[in-house]
Amino acid sequence: MSGFVVWFTGLSGAGKTTVANIVEAELEQRGHVVDHLDGDIVRTHLSKGLGFSKEDRDTNIARIGWVASRVARAGAAVIVSAISPYEEARRHARSLVEPHVPFVEVYVATPLEECARRDPKGLYAAAFAGEIDDFTGVSAPYEEPSHPEVRIDTTGVSPSDSARAVLEALERMAVTA
Ligand code: ADX
Repeated sequence: MSGFVVWFTGLSGAGKTTVANIVEAELEQRGHVVDHLDGDIVRTHLSKGLGFSKEDRDTNIARIGWVASRVARAGAAVIVSAISPYEEARRHARSLVEPHVPFVEVYVATPLEECARRDPKGLYAAAFAGEIDDFTGVSAPYEEPSHPEVRIDTTGVSPSDSARAVLEALERMAVTA
């Protein structure tokens, strides 16, 4: 099977990791070799020590894009879940991948109010209290993708239904059967 990259972008708490985990398991079931590069995990290894300035985020996303490109070229389905808030950094990642394999950008467009209501890590409360600098959506920008291949809003939608929408898009694009 040939490789491809599925790149989830969206706010913290939007549901990127949850939906990506289900897509990962389903692609494995279908026989793909899958690697999942999740922002929180990448930041404990490949990007350990980087912070949340624009420069550090751009470095993080450039590293993830480079690895994703290499691994997908070798034949794997690579799933990325990272806020990746800057359009130019996402475009750069796409440019590393698209000469070789398809790049599928999935915009997890769950609104800020819903992400802050979920607040699974308590970070929005801290950010609104002024305790976290450069927090995406509160004190740092999130640049919405202008032409994502897929757009989902997980508000009031189960994780499995959200994952199904992504998988159906991948089927339409013929990257999975
Ligand atoms: S990215 O902007 O470089 O793509 P990434 O997805 O790797 O971000 O990491 C985001 C995760 O870091 C969030 O889910 C959250 O748990 C944590 N985090 C800590 N500080 C911040 C911050 N200032 N802004 C956004 N996320 C933060």
